[in-house]
Amino acid sequence: MSDDVVLTGITTTGTPHLGNYVGAIRPAIESSKNSAAQCFYFLADYHALIKCHDPVQVHQSTREIAATWLALGLDTDNTVFYRQSDVPEIPELAWLLSCMTAKGLMNRAHAYKAAVAANEEDNSHDPDKGITMGLFGYPVLMAADILMFRANKVPVGRDQIQHVEMARDIAGRFNHHFGEHFVLPEAVVDDNVAVLQGLDGRKMSKSYNNTIPLFLPEKQLRKAINKIKTNLLEPGEPKDADTSTVFQIWQAFATESQTSEMRKAFEEGIAWGEAKKLLFELVNAELSEARERYTSFLEDGAKMECILAEGAEKARAVSQPFLKELRKSVGIRSLDVMP
Ligand code: TRP
Repeated sequence: MSDDVVLTGITTTGTPHLGNYVGAIRPAIESSKNSAAQCFYFLADYHALIKCHDPVQVHQSTREIAATWLALGLDTDNTVFYRQSDVPEIPELAWLLSCMTAKGLMNRAHAYKAAVAANEEDNSHDPDKGITMGLFGYPVLMAADILMFRANKVPVGRDQIQHVEMARDIAGRFNHHFGEHFVLPEAVVDDNVAVLQGLDGRKMSKSYNNTIPLFLPEKQLRKAINKIKTNLLEPGEPKDADTSTVFQIWQAFATESQTSEMRKAFEEGIAWGEAKKLLFELVNAELSEARERYTSFLEDGAKMECILAEGAEKARAVSQPFLKELRKSVGIRSLDVMP
């Protein structure tokens, strides 16, 4: 049994797409099956409020993301799968950490810096225009997520490395001041997982509006795949696999031998229409059963609530006693005890 505690959060904005699946969800579910580590995966719905002020969208996305993870076979007996807002000790810890976090550290957080830069580019008189305390203090909430469960390994995309390092800094400062309570976390970035290209060939991302949603109904999935941008080469003309989005997505779903067969087909001038048809069939075969489970989870919100309640119970079995210890360490104690 390893002592690793692996933790990662999924912000509940947007609909999961093939890029999320290949780059984050599939490897996370795989590793929860294979590893001896204790895994904590959670729906970061408090984080969603930083980016999204549309309640219907936050709710809808939380439902979709919960249903996605469950439909794809996340083993909730082996994993603690919970919703951030079901664990009130997390925002409470965020406050304790805020009081140990230098404002200057937050000034350097790239999400905040990017927002300021955008204001400056717009020649706005106020560099902080539209920037909330939620966005500014985002890394503190994320630190609370991580430190609460004494996670040492945090699988994230490259854009999140800085936040994990900040969690480490904050933990170090707290430990120095109040005693060794926190484990120092480390970001884990897997270079082997594919960063999928989207319909237009750029990285698949909600912000580029070029995604293929993961659980599109079959017909729409076929249509979406047909929309992937290609060049104008005719059937029979050799095509370059390495610059093709069709090939790149193929590779993310195919076995090694299927990949080399497709590479050969490209060299031999497979028609784009044919390549896309095969791609649809491959992707659909991997997703079709999960798609059915996804639909039934979405129709049975009570079932999802039930699963999340169990997850929250497991999470709070850790967070409640730990927060008690932390409150005590900072001096929030019963008045009944002599100092
Ligand atoms: N901020 C992360 C993202 O946008 C999501 C997240 C929230 C997270 N809390 C976390 C990731 C804790 C890892 C650990 O991707």
